[in-house]
Amino acid sequence: MSRVIAIANQKGGVGKTTTAVNLAACLAVAEQPTLLIDMDPQANATSGCGVPATEVEPANIYHALLGHRSAEEVVRKTNIPYLSLVPSHVNLAGAEVEMVNMIAREQKLDGMLAGIKDRFTYTVIDCPPSLGLLTVNALTTADSVLIPIQCEYYALEGLGKLLNTIRLIQRHLNPSLQIAGVLLTMYDARLNLSRQVAAEVKSYFGDKVYKTAIARNVRLAEAPSFGQPIVLYDILSPGAQSYMSLAGEVLSHG
Ligand SMILES: Nc1ncnc2c1ncn2[C@@H]1O[C@H](COP(=O)(O)OP(=O)(O)OP(=O)(O)O)[C@@H](O)[C@H]1O
Ligand SMILES: [Mg+2]
Repeated sequence: MSRVIAIANQKGGVGKTTTAVNLAACLAVAEQPTLLIDMDPQANATSGCGVPATEVEPANIYHALLGHRSAEEVVRKTNIPYLSLVPSHVNLAGAEVEMVNMIAREQKLDGMLAGIKDRFTYTVIDCPPSLGLLTVNALTTADSVLIPIQCEYYALEGLGKLLNTIRLIQRHLNPSLQIAGVLLTMYDARLNLSRQVAAEVKSYFGDKVYKTAIARNVRLAEAPSFGQPIVLYDILSPGAQSYMSLAGEVLSHG
């Protein structure tokens, strides 16, 4: 069985990439063959796995989406056993424009993944902070979407738009798309604000909210500058423990 999980929220800086990289790495540590796909031109998930932009320039997600390279040519191993990566590059920013007039432009990632996803138990897609064609491609091929919500002011602002996009994709492009769960990120139990946001999210999403909340942890913010997922950078940190616990929930939900 292979599950494709898109990590999406058009709001910037809510912890999408941190979650995509670390959830994927934790699933791999649990010996689940896992593919991490970087769908963001910012390429933060790529550099967060220690892969420099110069190395991926000739073969990355951009080339695969536009059909210039096969999926096999853009998948690469990482220094974590069981974890593979499809890297991104800033040139992906042009793909949305180039894809606009293509036939089945929303299904490019789905087509690319068709031949390779069965090699992996999990495919985790890091989406950009927009609801444009790149995110639509991710939601069209995904079995489910994981929505990170930062426990800050305006956390819920824009969520209606994301849920509406999910409904439109379900209606027109991917009827089986589900919400995998909602993840509270940068949670600080000492702050009233964090607790209020958590309560609001729980009253809206009920049991769709993961039991694991990701606390603010400086080690999680440091790890990308060393090109390492948290399980390599500091396995004993609270951040590593939280993402292992999230991976446990994902594994048990199937
Ligand atoms: N739990 C955490 N504790 C401390 N810092 C965090 C945590 N989660 C994320 N960060 C930091 O917050 C910033 C934003 O996180 P991240 O890049 O994961 O968000 P994003 O949603 O992918 O952003 P974008 O929308 O730009 O793609 C980063 O600097 C990251 O290191
Ligand atoms: Mg990101």
